[in-house]
Amino acid sequence: MSARDTDWEGVRLHVVTGKGGTGKTTVAAALALGLASAGGKVLLMEVEGRQGIAQLFDCPPLPEGERKVAVAPGTPGRAGGDVYALAADPESALAEYLEKFYNLPRAGRALNRLGVVDFVTTIAPGLRDVLLTGKAAEATRRRAGRRRVYNAVVMDAPPTGRIARFLNVATEVSGLAKVGPIRGHADSVQGVIHSPQTAVHFVTVLEEMPVQETLDGIAELRGLSPGGLQLGGIMINMVRPVGLSDDQLAAAAAGRLDVHDLALGLKTAGIEDGSGPAENLDLAGSLAAELTEHAREALAQREQRELLAGAGQPCYELPLITDGMDLAGLYRLASALREQGAA
Ligand SMILES: Nc1ncnc2c1ncn2[C@@H]1O[C@H](COP(=O)(O)OP(=O)(O)OP(=O)(O)O)[C@@H](O)[C@H]1O
Ligand SMILES: [Mg+2]
Repeated sequence: MSARDTDWEGVRLHVVTGKGGTGKTTVAAALALGLASAGGKVLLMEVEGRQGIAQLFDCPPLPEGERKVAVAPGTPGRAGGDVYALAADPESALAEYLEKFYNLPRAGRALNRLGVVDFVTTIAPGLRDVLLTGKAAEATRRRAGRRRVYNAVVMDAPPTGRIARFLNVATEVSGLAKVGPIRGHADSVQGVIHSPQTAVHFVTVLEEMPVQETLDGIAELRGLSPGGLQLGGIMINMVRPVGLSDDQLAAAAAGRLDVHDLALGLKTAGIEDGSGPAENLDLAGSLAAELTEHAREALAQREQRELLAGAGQPCYELPLITDGMDLAGLYRLASALREQGAA
């Protein structure tokens, strides 16, 4: 593990949630790469059966089981570790569970063919969730001899609207199983999820709806009993550079830009449309309109950023990658997370 301090020292299961489409899968992958740069193995796990991780790393759909998908960028004097990926599904998790607790190898597969797994997970969605969170807890604790197999597990989790239920597994199955192995399993999973080893991070962009969902999600998780869950960071994704000073922003937002000044500035920069001063003023006029739009957006984003800062969790910013999301883009996001102490 890294000798350097991060904000989440001691956390070994990172749960990444957020509003749909804000970049959960991308940020979870970047976090996994960031954590793996210290060396060792990190497991990136998805639970929605969408093969989003395979798409992101541009590899064929993930088979059952864990597979290496990337090598993390190293740190000076040290090679990067490996990121493994797993598309967890309740069927395989149930099969593993039956094998482990009832010594029934392949029972899961047979049950699956008979439609029993579907039946069970449909009548008891809480069971489906406990199987998936159980898989995450198992990977987090897994050892080979005395060594842990994974330094960290990063879960690309369900969106904000479903995260509290998803993680509140012991309560969810309590009506279903009061005693016995399922109950015991749920309790032991709950033990990992509700421990300082687990943190729940929120991904958002600087827009009203996702920010509101983040704040609501944080409040909901804080309100969970018993003990609650450890809240993690707020990952502000797709941040664009502003490029204007505060004064310029205020002037531009108020539509107070001096068009003559802008025209002159354009001329000095060698940008003219060549047809004369009047046309140049037109050009400067459109530029002013665009700057006004940009400034208003930047100020609105600043407001959203302040709302997020008020939630009392560390905030991290990830830049908008404009030239397509590939491994190089993920490396950039990973290093942004590392520079800010998130990984
Ligand atoms: N920092 C970024 N810069 C540029 N593009 C980004 C960034 N983060 C995410 N994206 C792009 O935004 C889109 C949505 O990202 P992603 O799939 O990670 O979101 P998600 O929250 O997992 O979505 P879903 O809710 O559908 O699972 C993708 O096309 C992704 O490449
Ligand atoms: Mg996703």
